[in-house]
Amino acid sequence: MSKISKIIARQVFDSRGNPTIETEVFVKDISASAICPSGASTGTYEAFEKRDINNKKYLGKSVLKPVEFINKVISNKLKNFNVHQQEKIDNLLIRLDGTKQKKRVGANAILSVSIASAKASSKSENLDLHNYFNILLSNKMGKTIDQVIPIPMLNILNGGEHADNNIDIQEFMIIPKGAVNFSQAMQWSSEIYWNLKSILKEKGLSTAVGDEGGFAPNLNTNREALELIARAVDKTDLKLGSDICISLDCAASEFYENGTYHLKGEDRELTSSEFAEYLEGLANDFPIMSIEDGMDENDLEGWKVLTKQIGGKCQLVGDDLFATNPEVLKKGISDEIANSVLIKYNQIGTISETLETISIALNNDYQNIISHRSGETEDSSISDLAVGTGAGQIKTGAPCRSERVAKYNRLYWIDKKNSFSYG
Ligand code: PGA
Ligand code: ZN
Repeated sequence: MSKISKIIARQVFDSRGNPTIETEVFVKDISASAICPSGASTGTYEAFEKRDINNKKYLGKSVLKPVEFINKVISNKLKNFNVHQQEKIDNLLIRLDGTKQKKRVGANAILSVSIASAKASSKSENLDLHNYFNILLSNKMGKTIDQVIPIPMLNILNGGEHADNNIDIQEFMIIPKGAVNFSQAMQWSSEIYWNLKSILKEKGLSTAVGDEGGFAPNLNTNREALELIARAVDKTDLKLGSDICISLDCAASEFYENGTYHLKGEDRELTSSEFAEYLEGLANDFPIMSIEDGMDENDLEGWKVLTKQIGGKCQLVGDDLFATNPEVLKKGISDEIANSVLIKYNQIGTISETLETISIALNNDYQNIISHRSGETEDSSISDLAVGTGAGQIKTGAPCRSERVAKYNRLYWIDKKNSFSYG
Protein backbone atom coordinates (compact mmCIF):
# COMPACT_ATOMS: atom_id res chain seq x y z
CA MET A 1 0.00 0.00 0.00
CA SER A 2 1.25 3.48 -0.89
CA LYS A 3 0.15 6.03 1.63
CA ILE A 4 -0.23 9.73 1.04
CA SER A 5 2.32 11.36 3.35
CA LYS A 6 1.47 14.99 2.71
CA ILE A 7 -0.32 17.35 0.38
CA ILE A 8 0.86 20.86 -0.43
CA ALA A 9 -1.13 23.38 -2.45
CA ARG A 10 -0.07 26.77 -3.76
CA GLN A 11 -1.42 29.59 -5.88
CA VAL A 12 0.00 29.79 -9.42
CA PHE A 13 -1.19 31.41 -12.68
CA ASP A 14 -3.24 30.20 -15.63
CA SER A 15 -2.85 31.23 -19.28
CA ARG A 16 -5.08 34.29 -18.84
CA GLY A 17 -2.92 35.49 -15.99
CA ASN A 18 -5.54 34.57 -13.41
CA PRO A 19 -4.58 32.83 -10.18
CA THR A 20 -5.27 29.10 -10.01
CA ILE A 21 -4.42 26.18 -7.73
CA GLU A 22 -1.51 23.76 -8.00
CA THR A 23 -1.58 20.80 -5.64
CA GLU A 24 1.25 18.38 -4.96
CA VAL A 25 0.59 14.96 -3.47
CA PHE A 26 3.48 13.13 -1.78
CA VAL A 27 3.78 9.35 -1.55
CA LYS A 28 6.93 7.71 -0.15
CA ASP A 29 9.81 9.40 -1.93
CA ILE A 30 7.83 10.70 -4.92
CA SER A 31 5.42 13.51 -5.51
CA ALA A 32 3.15 14.62 -8.35
CA SER A 33 1.34 17.85 -8.95
CA ALA A 34 -1.68 19.03 -10.91
CA ILE A 35 -2.96 22.48 -11.84
CA CYS A 36 -6.63 23.35 -12.23
CA PRO A 37 -7.85 25.03 -15.46
CA SER A 38 -10.61 27.63 -15.61
CA GLY A 39 -13.42 28.46 -18.06
CA ALA A 40 -14.72 31.79 -19.36
CA SER A 41 -17.96 30.72 -21.00
CA THR A 42 -19.09 28.61 -18.08
CA GLY A 43 -22.36 26.70 -17.88
CA THR A 44 -24.93 27.16 -15.12
CA TYR A 45 -24.74 23.49 -14.14
CA GLU A 46 -20.96 23.49 -13.68
CA ALA A 47 -19.37 22.86 -10.32
CA PHE A 48 -18.32 26.00 -8.49
CA GLU A 49 -14.92 27.64 -8.90
CA LYS A 50 -14.00 29.19 -5.57
CA ARG A 51 -12.11 32.50 -5.47
CA ASP A 52 -11.38 35.06 -2.76
CA ILE A 53 -13.99 37.47 -4.07
CA ASN A 54 -13.73 39.76 -1.05
CA ASN A 55 -9.98 40.12 -1.26
CA LYS A 56 -8.81 43.23 -3.14
CA LYS A 57 -5.55 41.56 -4.07
CA TYR A 58 -5.66 40.09 -7.56
CA LEU A 59 -8.99 41.93 -8.03
CA GLY A 60 -10.85 39.29 -6.04
CA LYS A 61 -9.54 36.47 -8.22
CA SER A 62 -6.98 34.96 -5.88
CA VAL A 63 -7.47 31.39 -4.63
CA LEU A 64 -5.64 31.72 -1.31
CA LYS A 65 -8.59 30.51 0.79
CA PRO A 66 -9.11 27.27 -1.15
CA VAL A 67 -5.33 26.76 -1.12
CA GLU A 68 -5.33 27.15 2.65
CA PHE A 69 -8.21 24.69 2.94
CA ILE A 70 -6.20 22.09 1.06
CA ASN A 71 -3.10 22.71 3.18
CA LYS A 72 -4.89 22.73 6.50
CA VAL A 73 -7.90 20.44 6.16
CA ILE A 74 -7.69 18.20 3.10
CA SER A 75 -4.04 17.30 3.69
CA ASN A 76 -4.89 16.10 7.21
CA LYS A 77 -7.95 14.16 6.12
CA LEU A 78 -6.09 12.39 3.32
CA LYS A 79 -2.89 11.72 5.26
CA ASN A 80 -2.12 7.96 5.31
CA PHE A 81 -4.82 7.31 2.72
CA ASN A 82 -4.02 4.63 0.15
CA VAL A 83 -3.24 6.74 -2.94
CA HIS A 84 -4.40 3.94 -5.25
CA GLN A 85 -7.99 4.22 -4.08
CA GLN A 86 -9.09 7.00 -6.39
CA GLU A 87 -12.77 6.58 -5.77
CA LYS A 88 -12.36 6.64 -1.99
CA ILE A 89 -10.22 9.77 -2.23
CA ASP A 90 -12.75 11.46 -4.48
CA ASN A 91 -15.67 10.42 -2.29
CA LEU A 92 -13.97 11.87 0.75
CA LEU A 93 -13.44 15.16 -1.12
CA ILE A 94 -17.10 15.18 -2.20
CA ARG A 95 -18.25 14.48 1.37
CA LEU A 96 -15.95 17.15 2.80
CA ASP A 97 -17.66 19.65 0.58
CA GLY A 98 -21.17 18.33 1.01
CA THR A 99 -22.88 20.66 -1.48
CA LYS A 100 -24.33 19.79 -4.87
CA GLN A 101 -22.10 22.17 -6.84
CA LYS A 102 -19.04 21.95 -4.57
CA LYS A 103 -19.57 25.47 -3.32
CA ARG A 104 -18.00 25.04 0.09
CA VAL A 105 -14.55 23.77 -0.80
CA GLY A 106 -14.66 24.72 -4.49
CA ALA A 107 -14.35 22.36 -7.45
CA ASN A 108 -11.01 23.97 -8.31
CA ALA A 109 -9.53 22.89 -4.97
CA ILE A 110 -11.11 19.44 -5.15
CA LEU A 111 -10.05 18.76 -8.73
CA SER A 112 -6.42 19.70 -8.18
CA VAL A 113 -6.24 17.17 -5.32
CA SER A 114 -8.08 14.54 -7.34
CA ILE A 115 -5.77 14.79 -10.36
CA ALA A 116 -2.60 15.11 -8.30
CA SER A 117 -3.60 11.94 -6.41
CA ALA A 118 -4.13 10.11 -9.70
CA LYS A 119 -0.74 11.27 -10.92
CA ALA A 120 0.97 10.27 -7.66
CA SER A 121 -0.71 6.88 -7.74
CA SER A 122 0.37 6.15 -11.32
CA LYS A 123 3.86 7.52 -10.75
CA SER A 124 4.40 5.39 -7.65
CA GLU A 125 3.52 2.31 -9.73
CA ASN A 126 5.63 3.44 -12.65
CA LEU A 127 2.55 3.63 -14.82
CA ASP A 128 2.00 6.36 -17.39
CA LEU A 129 -1.07 8.38 -16.43
CA HIS A 130 -3.11 7.30 -19.48
CA ASN A 131 -2.66 3.66 -18.41
CA TYR A 132 -3.90 4.53 -14.94
CA PHE A 133 -7.01 6.25 -16.32
CA ASN A 134 -7.53 3.26 -18.58
CA ILE A 135 -7.46 0.86 -15.64
CA LEU A 136 -9.91 3.00 -13.68
CA LEU A 137 -12.38 3.17 -16.56
CA SER A 138 -11.99 -0.49 -17.56
CA ASN A 139 -12.64 -1.56 -13.95
CA LYS A 140 -15.67 0.68 -13.82
CA MET A 141 -17.08 -0.63 -17.10
CA GLY A 142 -16.23 -4.27 -16.30
CA LYS A 143 -14.46 -4.66 -19.65
CA THR A 144 -11.21 -3.63 -21.28
CA ILE A 145 -11.39 -0.22 -22.89
CA ASP A 146 -9.04 0.18 -25.86
CA GLN A 147 -6.67 3.12 -25.62
CA VAL A 148 -6.73 5.40 -28.64
CA ILE A 149 -4.72 8.41 -29.82
CA PRO A 150 -7.48 10.99 -30.31
CA ILE A 151 -8.24 12.98 -33.44
CA PRO A 152 -7.58 16.62 -32.56
CA MET A 153 -10.09 19.41 -33.10
CA LEU A 154 -8.02 22.57 -33.43
CA ASN A 155 -9.60 25.91 -32.72
CA ILE A 156 -7.95 28.18 -35.29
CA LEU A 157 -10.37 31.12 -35.20
CA ASN A 158 -11.63 32.48 -31.88
CA GLY A 159 -14.74 34.53 -31.14
CA GLY A 160 -17.33 34.91 -28.39
CA GLU A 161 -16.01 35.12 -24.84
CA HIS A 162 -12.54 34.06 -25.92
CA ALA A 163 -11.68 37.11 -27.97
CA ASP A 164 -12.31 40.84 -28.11
CA ASN A 165 -13.58 40.72 -31.70
CA ASN A 166 -17.15 40.83 -33.02
CA ILE A 167 -17.64 37.16 -33.94
CA ASP A 168 -20.52 35.53 -32.06
CA ILE A 169 -19.63 31.88 -32.56
CA GLN A 170 -16.94 31.09 -30.03
CA GLU A 171 -14.84 28.47 -31.80
CA PHE A 172 -14.08 27.58 -35.40
CA MET A 173 -12.16 24.32 -35.38
CA ILE A 174 -10.61 22.12 -38.03
CA ILE A 175 -10.72 18.33 -37.83
CA PRO A 176 -7.96 16.68 -39.87
CA LYS A 177 -10.26 13.77 -40.49
CA GLY A 178 -8.40 12.20 -43.39
CA ALA A 179 -4.98 12.03 -41.68
CA VAL A 180 -3.63 8.55 -41.19
CA ASN A 181 -1.97 9.30 -37.88
CA PHE A 182 -1.57 11.96 -35.21
CA SER A 183 1.58 13.51 -36.58
CA GLN A 184 0.07 13.93 -40.04
CA ALA A 185 -3.02 15.45 -38.42
CA MET A 186 -0.85 18.01 -36.65
CA GLN A 187 1.23 18.75 -39.74
CA TRP A 188 -1.87 19.46 -41.83
CA SER A 189 -3.41 21.54 -39.08
CA SER A 190 -0.38 23.69 -38.51
CA GLU A 191 -0.08 24.34 -42.28
CA ILE A 192 -3.71 25.47 -42.41
CA TYR A 193 -3.17 27.61 -39.33
CA TRP A 194 -0.21 29.38 -40.95
CA ASN A 195 -2.13 29.79 -44.22
CA LEU A 196 -4.98 31.39 -42.33
CA LYS A 197 -2.52 33.80 -40.76
CA SER A 198 -1.17 34.87 -44.12
CA ILE A 199 -4.67 35.30 -45.59
CA LEU A 200 -5.68 37.51 -42.65
CA LYS A 201 -2.48 39.51 -43.04
CA GLU A 202 -3.09 40.03 -46.77
CA LYS A 203 -6.56 41.33 -45.97
CA GLY A 204 -5.20 43.72 -43.38
CA LEU A 205 -7.00 41.84 -40.60
CA SER A 206 -5.62 41.24 -37.13
CA THR A 207 -3.47 38.18 -36.59
CA ALA A 208 -3.50 38.52 -32.81
CA VAL A 209 -4.69 35.35 -31.14
CA GLY A 210 -7.52 34.70 -28.68
CA ASP A 211 -7.57 32.68 -25.47
CA GLU A 212 -7.31 29.33 -27.22
CA GLY A 213 -4.61 30.32 -29.69
CA GLY A 214 -6.81 30.83 -32.75
CA PHE A 215 -6.77 34.13 -34.64
CA ALA A 216 -9.30 36.71 -33.53
CA PRO A 217 -10.00 39.16 -36.38
CA ASN A 218 -13.10 41.31 -36.70
CA LEU A 219 -15.33 39.89 -39.45
CA ASN A 220 -18.76 40.72 -40.80
CA THR A 221 -20.37 37.33 -40.31
CA ASN A 222 -19.79 33.83 -38.96
CA ARG A 223 -20.02 32.63 -42.54
CA GLU A 224 -17.03 34.82 -43.43
CA ALA A 225 -14.99 32.98 -40.82
CA LEU A 226 -15.87 29.69 -42.47
CA GLU A 227 -14.97 31.07 -45.91
CA LEU A 228 -11.55 32.18 -44.65
CA ILE A 229 -10.90 28.74 -43.21
CA ALA A 230 -11.97 27.16 -46.51
CA ARG A 231 -9.45 29.41 -48.30
CA ALA A 232 -6.72 28.43 -45.86
CA VAL A 233 -7.41 24.77 -46.62
CA ASP A 234 -7.46 25.52 -50.37
CA LYS A 235 -3.92 26.89 -50.12
CA THR A 236 -2.73 23.38 -49.25
CA ASP A 237 -3.30 20.38 -51.48
CA LEU A 238 -5.79 19.00 -48.98
CA LYS A 239 -9.50 18.63 -49.69
CA LEU A 240 -12.07 20.33 -47.53
CA GLY A 241 -14.75 17.79 -46.73
CA SER A 242 -12.62 14.67 -47.01
CA ASP A 243 -9.20 15.50 -45.54
CA ILE A 244 -10.33 18.42 -43.41
CA CYS A 245 -13.71 18.99 -41.80
CA ILE A 246 -14.96 21.83 -39.68
CA SER A 247 -16.28 21.86 -36.15
CA LEU A 248 -18.04 24.72 -34.35
CA ASP A 249 -18.56 25.56 -30.73
CA CYS A 250 -21.34 28.15 -30.73
CA ALA A 251 -21.38 28.45 -26.92
CA ALA A 252 -24.92 29.65 -27.67
CA SER A 253 -25.83 30.32 -24.03
CA GLU A 254 -23.55 33.35 -24.24
CA PHE A 255 -25.82 35.08 -26.78
CA TYR A 256 -29.23 33.71 -25.84
CA GLU A 257 -31.54 35.97 -23.89
CA ASN A 258 -35.29 35.90 -23.32
CA GLY A 259 -35.93 33.27 -25.95
CA THR A 260 -33.82 34.99 -28.63
CA TYR A 261 -30.41 34.29 -30.13
CA HIS A 262 -28.68 37.65 -30.51
CA LEU A 263 -26.05 37.58 -33.25
CA LYS A 264 -24.58 40.99 -32.45
CA GLY A 265 -21.76 40.66 -34.97
CA GLU A 266 -24.30 40.23 -37.78
CA ASP A 267 -26.93 42.49 -36.24
CA ARG A 268 -29.52 39.72 -36.29
CA GLU A 269 -31.96 38.34 -33.75
CA LEU A 270 -33.25 34.83 -34.28
CA THR A 271 -35.83 32.65 -32.59
CA SER A 272 -34.87 29.19 -31.50
CA SER A 273 -36.09 27.47 -34.67
CA GLU A 274 -34.58 30.21 -36.85
CA PHE A 275 -31.21 29.73 -35.19
CA ALA A 276 -31.43 25.95 -35.69
CA GLU A 277 -32.15 26.69 -39.35
CA TYR A 278 -29.22 29.11 -39.49
CA LEU A 279 -26.91 26.34 -38.24
CA GLU A 280 -28.40 23.86 -40.67
CA GLY A 281 -27.68 26.34 -43.47
CA LEU A 282 -24.04 26.58 -42.43
CA ALA A 283 -23.82 22.79 -42.20
CA ASN A 284 -25.27 22.48 -45.71
CA ASP A 285 -22.75 24.89 -47.21
CA PHE A 286 -19.61 23.79 -45.35
CA PRO A 287 -18.42 20.34 -44.24
CA ILE A 288 -19.31 20.88 -40.60
CA MET A 289 -18.95 17.54 -38.82
CA SER A 290 -19.57 18.70 -35.30
CA ILE A 291 -21.49 21.49 -33.55
CA GLU A 292 -21.09 22.08 -29.83
CA ASP A 293 -23.63 23.98 -27.73
CA GLY A 294 -25.59 24.88 -30.85
CA MET A 295 -28.46 25.94 -28.61
CA ASP A 296 -28.72 27.51 -25.16
CA GLU A 297 -28.26 25.15 -22.19
CA ASN A 298 -31.90 25.62 -21.12
CA ASP A 299 -33.52 25.74 -24.55
CA LEU A 300 -34.76 22.16 -24.48
CA GLU A 301 -37.19 22.67 -27.35
CA GLY A 302 -34.45 24.27 -29.47
CA TRP A 303 -32.17 21.30 -28.77
CA LYS A 304 -34.92 18.91 -29.81
CA VAL A 305 -35.40 20.79 -33.09
CA LEU A 306 -31.66 20.95 -33.81
CA THR A 307 -31.15 17.26 -32.94
CA LYS A 308 -34.03 16.24 -35.17
CA GLN A 309 -32.86 18.45 -38.03
CA ILE A 310 -29.15 17.67 -38.18
CA GLY A 311 -28.40 15.13 -35.42
CA GLY A 312 -28.36 12.40 -38.08
CA LYS A 313 -25.45 13.88 -40.03
CA CYS A 314 -23.69 16.03 -37.48
CA GLN A 315 -22.06 15.36 -34.14
CA LEU A 316 -24.06 17.53 -31.71
CA VAL A 317 -22.02 18.08 -28.58
CA GLY A 318 -23.34 19.15 -25.19
CA ASP A 319 -20.85 21.23 -23.22
CA ASP A 320 -22.70 23.80 -21.07
CA LEU A 321 -25.69 21.59 -21.80
CA PHE A 322 -24.38 18.58 -19.83
CA ALA A 323 -21.56 20.16 -17.79
CA THR A 324 -19.80 16.75 -17.48
CA ASN A 325 -22.45 15.98 -14.87
CA PRO A 326 -23.72 12.35 -14.74
CA GLU A 327 -27.24 13.34 -13.69
CA VAL A 328 -27.56 16.15 -16.23
CA LEU A 329 -26.26 13.88 -18.99
CA LYS A 330 -28.71 11.12 -18.05
CA LYS A 331 -31.58 13.58 -18.30
CA GLY A 332 -30.36 14.82 -21.70
CA ILE A 333 -30.14 11.24 -22.96
CA SER A 334 -33.71 10.57 -21.88
CA ASP A 335 -34.81 13.82 -23.53
CA GLU A 336 -33.04 12.57 -26.70
CA ILE A 337 -31.06 15.76 -27.18
CA ALA A 338 -27.55 16.01 -28.70
CA ASN A 339 -25.56 12.85 -29.42
CA SER A 340 -22.19 13.63 -27.83
CA VAL A 341 -20.78 15.04 -24.62
CA LEU A 342 -17.85 17.34 -23.99
CA ILE A 343 -15.76 16.18 -21.05
CA LYS A 344 -14.09 18.84 -18.90
CA TYR A 345 -13.17 17.57 -15.49
CA ASN A 346 -13.32 20.87 -13.69
CA GLN A 347 -17.00 21.12 -14.63
CA ILE A 348 -17.71 18.30 -12.21
CA GLY A 349 -14.69 18.33 -9.89
CA THR A 350 -13.26 14.81 -9.52
CA ILE A 351 -11.74 12.12 -11.71
CA SER A 352 -14.24 9.54 -10.47
CA GLU A 353 -17.28 11.61 -11.39
CA THR A 354 -15.71 12.42 -14.76
CA LEU A 355 -15.28 8.70 -15.43
CA GLU A 356 -18.89 8.16 -14.37
CA THR A 357 -20.05 10.65 -17.01
CA ILE A 358 -17.80 9.04 -19.62
CA SER A 359 -19.17 5.60 -18.81
CA ILE A 360 -22.79 6.81 -19.06
CA ALA A 361 -22.02 8.22 -22.51
CA LEU A 362 -20.35 4.97 -23.57
CA ASN A 363 -23.33 2.93 -22.39
CA ASN A 364 -25.72 5.12 -24.35
CA ASP A 365 -23.80 5.50 -27.61
CA TYR A 366 -23.00 9.14 -26.95
CA GLN A 367 -19.56 10.18 -28.20
CA ASN A 368 -17.07 11.49 -25.60
CA ILE A 369 -14.85 14.44 -26.54
CA ILE A 370 -12.17 15.40 -24.04
CA SER A 371 -11.64 19.14 -23.72
CA HIS A 372 -9.37 21.83 -22.30
CA ARG A 373 -10.70 25.08 -20.80
CA SER A 374 -10.06 28.52 -22.21
CA GLY A 375 -7.94 29.29 -19.14
CA GLU A 376 -5.29 26.55 -19.19
CA THR A 377 -1.84 25.73 -17.88
CA GLU A 378 1.09 23.46 -18.67
CA ASP A 379 -0.83 20.57 -17.06
CA SER A 380 -1.37 18.08 -19.87
CA SER A 381 -3.33 15.40 -18.04
CA ILE A 382 -6.35 15.77 -20.36
CA SER A 383 -4.22 14.20 -23.09
CA ASP A 384 -3.80 11.14 -20.89
CA LEU A 385 -7.51 11.18 -20.13
CA ALA A 386 -8.32 11.24 -23.84
CA VAL A 387 -6.01 8.31 -24.62
CA GLY A 388 -6.84 6.26 -21.54
CA THR A 389 -10.60 6.49 -21.99
CA GLY A 390 -10.40 5.77 -25.71
CA ALA A 391 -12.52 8.87 -26.32
CA GLY A 392 -11.26 9.21 -29.89
CA GLN A 393 -11.44 13.01 -29.96
CA ILE A 394 -9.78 15.87 -28.10
CA LYS A 395 -10.21 19.60 -28.44
CA THR A 396 -7.39 21.59 -27.01
CA GLY A 397 -6.98 24.77 -29.03
CA ALA A 398 -4.78 25.96 -31.85
CA PRO A 399 -1.32 24.57 -32.61
CA CYS A 400 -0.04 27.68 -30.83
CA ARG A 401 0.39 28.98 -27.23
CA SER A 402 2.32 26.76 -24.84
CA GLU A 403 -0.66 25.80 -22.69
CA ARG A 404 -2.36 24.42 -25.83
CA VAL A 405 0.63 22.73 -27.44
CA ALA A 406 1.56 21.13 -24.08
CA LYS A 407 -1.41 18.82 -24.68
CA TYR A 408 -0.50 18.08 -28.30
CA ASN A 409 3.13 17.53 -27.34
CA ARG A 410 2.08 15.06 -24.66
CA LEU A 411 0.05 13.19 -27.29
CA TYR A 412 3.15 13.00 -29.54
CA TRP A 413 4.99 11.46 -26.59
CA ILE A 414 2.28 8.92 -25.80
CA ASP A 415 1.89 8.09 -29.49
CA LYS A 416 5.61 7.46 -29.95
CA LYS A 417 5.91 5.26 -26.89
CA ASN A 418 2.92 3.04 -27.66
CA SER A 419 1.25 1.47 -30.65
CA PHE A 420 -2.30 2.59 -30.01
CA SER A 421 -4.64 3.04 -32.94
CA TYR A 422 -5.47 6.58 -34.03
CA GLY A 423 -8.93 8.17 -34.02
P1 PGA B 1 -14.50 27.70 -21.67
O1 PGA B 1 -14.52 27.41 -23.21
O2 PGA B 1 -13.39 26.96 -21.07
O3 PGA B 1 -14.34 29.20 -21.61
O4 PGA B 1 -15.84 27.25 -21.12
C1 PGA B 1 -14.38 26.17 -23.77
C2 PGA B 1 -15.66 25.67 -24.37
O5 PGA B 1 -16.72 26.34 -24.27
O6 PGA B 1 -15.68 24.59 -24.91
ZN1 ZN C 1 -18.01 24.77 -25.40
